[in-house]
Amino acid sequence: MGAIYDDGAFFDNYYKLRQDKDNYNDNIEQPIMRALIGEVRGLSALDIGCGYGNMCAWLVSEGADEVLGIDNSSRMIDFAREHNRDAKIRYKVTDAETIDNTLGSFDLVVSSLALHYIKDLDRLFSEVCGLCRDHGRLVFSMEHPVFTSCLSTDDLWEYDADGKMSVYRLDHYAVEGVRHVEWLGKTITKYHRKTATIMNSLIRAGFEIKEVIEPSPTEHDIEHNERMRQELHRPAYLIISAEKR
Ligand SMILES: C[S@@+](CC[C@H](N)C(=O)[O-])C[C@H]1O[C@@H](n2cnc3c(N)ncnc32)[C@H](O)[C@@H]1O
Repeated sequence: MGAIYDDGAFFDNYYKLRQDKDNYNDNIEQPIMRALIGEVRGLSALDIGCGYGNMCAWLVSEGADEVLGIDNSSRMIDFAREHNRDAKIRYKVTDAETIDNTLGSFDLVVSSLALHYIKDLDRLFSEVCGLCRDHGRLVFSMEHPVFTSCLSTDDLWEYDADGKMSVYRLDHYAVEGVRHVEWLGKTITKYHRKTATIMNSLIRAGFEIKEVIEPSPTEHDIEHNERMRQELHRPAYLIISAEKR
């Protein structure tokens, strides 16, 4: 099967989602990723599932020496080359499932919201550890396991008398593996693993876990955007910072 982000209608719908000023990527995920990434001056970095190349451009703007952005969608890579071009950035159409040490070596590997699409996460973490230089770091976000677990395609929310989301239903958390879900008008394939499985996979690959964040909204976030209230019921993202042992 081809890359889902190469589908024209899906690509356009995702682009519209990202244009919404209240989108979760810019408001929840990116601030945490960037804080965890921290100082990048002089570093060589790899971005897995780089999409539009926004993170690659940010890394260079913060002083990274060179950045390689990879994505299995040629449509995404074309967009990145056009909109986030820089002499210090290279983009490459590459399936993260197949990466190996021919990609080079890096001080920092980042990945935003791409790893729930990866079937063989053990292999990926192991290859990424091999790509990391001494004490190289991996900082990534993915859809949270309580978000990817559900096998049911019904609405997972229960609502109170005022129509507000009151309960998030979690099902089949312990059943790891493939999930086919409807999103942005398409059936997409992603993979569910328990939080413990993800963390143990990192440890087995040779990483030391430094920080784990399950973003939750502050009162201020909710005042600013009522939709954030649902994040009090379950985290949408799992964000982890790790270092090569
Ligand atoms: C939700 S988007 C996030 C894009 C970007 N990281 C960002 O935060 O703006 C997920 C990205 O992962 C890419 N992706 C999915 N599966 C992949 C794979 N097997 N190898 C490489 N990239 C993949 C998609 O093409 C898409 O660009």
